[in-house]
Amino acid sequence: MVHVKGLSKGFTLHTQGGAAIDVFDDISLEVWAGECICLHGSSGAGKSTLLRSLYANYKPDAGHIVVQHGGEPIDLVSAEPWEVVEVRRRTIGYVSQFLRVIPRVSTLDIVTEPAIASGVPSETAYASARILLSRLRIPDRLWSLAPATFSGGEQQRVNIARGFMVDYPVLLLDEPTASLDAANRQSVIELINEAKARGAAVVGIFHDEEVREAVANRLFEVGRPAVRKCRCNSATEAAA
Ligand SMILES: Nc1ncnc2c1ncn2[C@@H]1O[C@H](COP(=O)(O)OP(=O)(O)O)[C@@H](O)[C@H]1O
Ligand SMILES: [Mg+2]
Repeated sequence: MVHVKGLSKGFTLHTQGGAAIDVFDDISLEVWAGECICLHGSSGAGKSTLLRSLYANYKPDAGHIVVQHGGEPIDLVSAEPWEVVEVRRRTIGYVSQFLRVIPRVSTLDIVTEPAIASGVPSETAYASARILLSRLRIPDRLWSLAPATFSGGEQQRVNIARGFMVDYPVLLLDEPTASLDAANRQSVIELINEAKARGAAVVGIFHDEEVREAVANRLFEVGRPAVRKCRCNSATEAAA
């Protein structure tokens, strides 16, 4: 479903003297339907940067991200903005680490929005949203409220409900269980395994060993080549 080839990404901090940060270099990765790849690596290794690149939020410096979109391969690195919008509408779902809270928009409306945007009739969308919010233990008295005042864990669960509204063929998850209790972690594990069972290709970052063991088919180490490269450079400098 996703074929990453020779992907490199760094940042230039223009406001800080043009300082350059190399995040990852020459990453290649394939993700198949029905499997879950867990991005692994220390904090700051570049896991979120890779996930955002897969959602075309960041533009890589080199390489390709080929995604199967409606039976056709499309390279997100060179895709036009309107194509990216289409891919996000139908093919790739992304659960960010934190919910983007929109003032005055109710929880129910935030959760149903991706389904309605993808053409699901609104009654069906609201029915699915209610089921997801219940499974994630968001009390129904909160459904009509905007999540701005919710706790971190409640906001995260609203974000997860939103991400699972559409049966996306590809699902990107950035630490979806980071601030959840055991019962809710279990619900998220079930949602991920249901998505895999219907054939979704999942790429996720999971800090919890328990969650990783329950959902991941493979671990993908992020950041290693960059670290190795730095070591080589300092060794060369030391030798010189
Ligand atoms: N938008 C950005 N601008 C500049 N640097 C960034 C940006 N996003 C991430 N970085 C840097 O890239 C590196 C990897 O960050 P990130 O992908 O968030 O790591 P992880 O998710 O593995 O903890 C860090 O050094 C971070 O400071
Ligand atoms: Mg991260």
